[in-house]
Amino acid sequence: MRVDLTGKIALVTGAARGIGLAIADRLAREGATVVRTDIIAPDEPNALPLDVTDEAQVDATIAAVIAQHGRLDILVNNAGIGTGPEDRTDIDKVSTAQWNRVLQVDLTGVFLVSRAGAAAMIAQGGGGRIINIASVVGLVPLRLQSAYVAAKAGVANLTKSMALELAKHGILVNAIAPGSTETDAWRNWINDASSEQQTLYTRLLSHIPLGRAAKPEEIAHAALFLAAPASSYITGHVLTVDGGWTAGYSRDF
Ligand SMILES: NC(=O)c1ccc[n+]([C@@H]2O[C@H](COP(=O)([O-])OP(=O)(O)OC[C@H]3O[C@@H](n4cnc5c(N)ncnc54)[C@H](O)[C@@H]3O)[C@@H](O)[C@H]2O)c1
Repeated sequence: MRVDLTGKIALVTGAARGIGLAIADRLAREGATVVRTDIIAPDEPNALPLDVTDEAQVDATIAAVIAQHGRLDILVNNAGIGTGPEDRTDIDKVSTAQWNRVLQVDLTGVFLVSRAGAAAMIAQGGGGRIINIASVVGLVPLRLQSAYVAAKAGVANLTKSMALELAKHGILVNAIAPGSTETDAWRNWINDASSEQQTLYTRLLSHIPLGRAAKPEEIAHAALFLAAPASSYITGHVLTVDGGWTAGYSRDF
């Protein structure tokens, strides 16, 4: 898909690696000027350090983008943390610290950056796109990661409430709900030769109708679609990109 984003100013959070990096690269390839932000400052000229949980830094970063580029057209809220295998546990054992951290980054972070980004878009006369990276587990919960499930469900509904409120300013707000996506952590897992890990991985793939995880570039393609000028009548939508995982229960009998 070719989309002309020439002259558009985009900001992507969590853009140092994984899905965020793929989205930033794709928007840039289609002509957008992309400000790449991450808690670990990406190593390149148009990059800024940004911890999405730091309210003052969020507001300063949006102000810096407006000061340098004059506007903000596309905001991608991608930064997020999952629940690592070592933290997976039933609700009666989830620590308050773990709960708070996941909610802070995955939900409050989206709120803080969206608030500042939407204010900037309204101030420039309206128009713009906000694209939130949710997760399929925000739509179909998994066990043992209640904080992540709750945060991502929050992102899906926050997307819809923002779409309702910002429509009058011509700002379109949508989300992508990726399924399992092959980022660095995934590749480490796939390359772990232990039979226990390989069995787990095979079992996981058996629940995905397409039989494989997504490439980050396939999530980036969906982000480009939502950012495209021609996608001008889509707002409040949560787009699953999951190889069919949420289509139904993919059992083998
Ligand atoms: N990989 C998957 O299977 C998958 C599936 C569904 C949804 N997602 C979502 O996609 C998004 C990207 O995930 P990924 O798999 O690319 O992960 P990743 O860990 O490879 O990349 C996440 C990036 O976010 C950054 N980050 C973490 N905390 C931050 C903070 N407080 N402020 C700013 N940046 C911060 C990290 O430094 C990292 O560069 C996340 O929101 C994640 O929940 C991923």
